[in-house]
Amino acid sequence: MAIFADVFVWLTDHPGVLVAAFSLYVFVYVVSALFSGPKPGPNPLKKDTSRPPKPLITDQDARDKVLKLGFTQKRIPENLDAVIIGSGIGGLSAAALLSRAGKRVLVLEQHDQAGGCCHTYSEKGFEFDVGIHYIGGMRQGTLSKLLVDQLTDGQLQWSDLNKEFDVVAIGEPGKQKLYPYESGSKEIWKASVLKKFPGEEKAIDKFLQYLQDVRKSMMGQISLKMMSKTAARILINTGLIYRFTKFFKYADRTVDEVLDELTDNADLKAVLAYGFGDYGVEPGKASFAMHALLTNHYVCGASYPRGGASEIAFHIIPVIEKSGGKVLVRAPVSEVLFDHKGKAIGVRVGKSNGATDIHAPLVISDAGVVNTFTSLVPQEHAQRSAIYKMIQENKIGCGAAAISLFVGLNGTTEELGLKAQNIWSFTGNNLTELIEDYFNQEADSAVDSEIPLIFVSFPSAKDPTYKERYPGKSVSAVIALANWKWFEKWENERVMKRGEDYEAMKMAFGRRMWDQVLTLYPQLANKVEYFTVGSPVSNKYYLGSAKGEIYGLDHSKERFASPEIVMNLRPDTDIPGLAITGQDILSCGFMGALFGGVLCASHVLHRNIWEDLVGLKKTIQKTK
Ligand SMILES: Cc1cc2nc3c(=O)[nH]c(=O)nc-3n(C[C@H](O)[C@H](O)[C@H](O)COP(=O)(O)OP(=O)(O)OC[C@H]3O[C@@H](n4cnc5c(N)ncnc54)[C@H](O)[C@@H]3O)c2cc1C
Ligand SMILES: *[C@@H]1O[C@H](CO)[C@@H](O)[C@H](O)[C@H]1NC(C)=O
Ligand SMILES: *[C@@H]1O[C@H](CO)[C@@H](O)[C@H](O)[C@H]1NC(C)=O
Repeated sequence: MAIFADVFVWLTDHPGVLVAAFSLYVFVYVVSALFSGPKPGPNPLKKDTSRPPKPLITDQDARDKVLKLGFTQKRIPENLDAVIIGSGIGGLSAAALLSRAGKRVLVLEQHDQAGGCCHTYSEKGFEFDVGIHYIGGMRQGTLSKLLVDQLTDGQLQWSDLNKEFDVVAIGEPGKQKLYPYESGSKEIWKASVLKKFPGEEKAIDKFLQYLQDVRKSMMGQISLKMMSKTAARILINTGLIYRFTKFFKYADRTVDEVLDELTDNADLKAVLAYGFGDYGVEPGKASFAMHALLTNHYVCGASYPRGGASEIAFHIIPVIEKSGGKVLVRAPVSEVLFDHKGKAIGVRVGKSNGATDIHAPLVISDAGVVNTFTSLVPQEHAQRSAIYKMIQENKIGCGAAAISLFVGLNGTTEELGLKAQNIWSFTGNNLTELIEDYFNQEADSAVDSEIPLIFVSFPSAKDPTYKERYPGKSVSAVIALANWKWFEKWENERVMKRGEDYEAMKMAFGRRMWDQVLTLYPQLANKVEYFTVGSPVSNKYYLGSAKGEIYGLDHSKERFASPEIVMNLRPDTDIPGLAITGQDILSCGFMGALFGGVLCASHVLHRNIWEDLVGLKKTIQKTK
């Protein structure tokens, strides 16, 4: 017995050995769990299907046949393999990947056109994008570009924004200091920031180092969503996850905490934090890991879909149709259907008398987890999912809402002096304080205050085909974060029938936004031909968001810092037959939601599709 006691004492003196032994055990367990699962399905990315792009189709009827195919009983394909709720990029990408693996998929969209945040709308001779202003990682040669090429058979083309694609403006309207951001590579980026902040090289280098650390540790987050929950729980409960990845170390710090460590220069802090508007959480509450993910995304530049954002859905839908699938609009799903064993077996479109039930062995929701678990899945079934419990316990919830201003302008890009560039205009440099003070106000005082952050962009200047499609015209899209509470009372009123108070308040916000834009672009003052404001209630109506949120679930620190939450936000839901896709799995953004689609299809096909993508890239390189 003594020998055991000795070993025990030795082990307590050398805890590292125990940890190492246990790590080995877990590693073996995880690997075996990964390989002993169900047999993998077909590789959706086996063959390169990219073809030279055909000319842009501008004929509205031809486009509508693809993007606005209305829901009818007759159009429902037979023998479906899956039905997907929502036609955002998360739904479309999962559908296209499954269809490339031979599955027949039906995508159902509540709005009158497909695309979700990627849809565009035209009115009075102008076209506006609603939720796509710039996308990173789309340069030739990246894996994300290759993926999008495969989802669209190479038909979706991209146009680069200016090298200086974002400008940060800081100060009172009319007195802003401008900080352009140059992109292309880390070195170019660094030089452009350093030019404005000489003497801050150490801080900038450290920031870049942190970005790199987070980039390298991303797999720590993603693997928790892919491995079995049992394996993930072992890693979490033993604390081993913290040894395997630095991700949570960075996730557990706010952006402000990191920036306070790096520098005392308040303008520099603002310039390094400005992009939080892309995920909607002020730097005092945002996770540095999310911020790094976003900043990394854009370091090499930004692109815009040639022909406008509707090109995205327009070219993915034919890929879905190739395997017999369909994308149908005006198809509001009211409920997920279950059998007596508690397995999801389909969906109900519409309500009461006019309802149609559609059956499929798999239901995938791109409608966001809050919609899915609080209004589509009946509570008796929803409560079996860890995601439902997290919503009930307020561990996750809807993110920030926003107001969008759409302005049609008389004049071309050149005549109006516009650029393929966004301006992020802040009224001061303490971003957290600005945003929080603003959000804490009641509606009537908010409407009378300066708006602390406006995002100003000109989609027409980013799309080289705009001038052919809408000669002599330009458009501006302006966005400001807003509090859902200010608009909540109109949530159940019908569109266009919300009354004068609603119109007045919405317009007051819009006019204030435009006045702030004019301090940056005074030349636009007399060029306005069209002026419309979309409120958080409009987002609910057109984008199907639960509380006017523009980026799905809240992106606050806790979502990324808690390994438990990270693990539970995954495609499988604890409910047989029900999976989720889209921005709530990993993060918002076109790429974030697309990656949600990749994870979802990986789950459904029991294979790692990212690995398949890497394999495809190698094959293409070999044959060239
Ligand atoms: C104003 C704004 C600006 C943005 N700017 C950018 C940007 O510049 N770059 C970038 O990368 N990202 C941007 N984003 C974020 C990005 O667009 C989104 O994160 C991403 O497109 C979300 O994709 P998704 O598939 O998860 O969800 P969504 O696109 O929201 O799709 C969900 C779909 O489900 C549908 N739906 C909901 N409920 C039902 C139901 N019951 N039945 C049927 N259908 C239903 C909705 O109508 C919607 O079409 C922006 C978003 C907004 C709103
Ligand atoms: C647009 O501007 C042109 C030139 O400035 C002017 O001739 C024309 O009348 C304007 N159109 C509208 C609709 O205001
Ligand atoms: C920003 O404002 C907050 C709250 O008023 C304050 O605590 C913080 O120190 C300020 N930050 C800077 C950089 O001035």
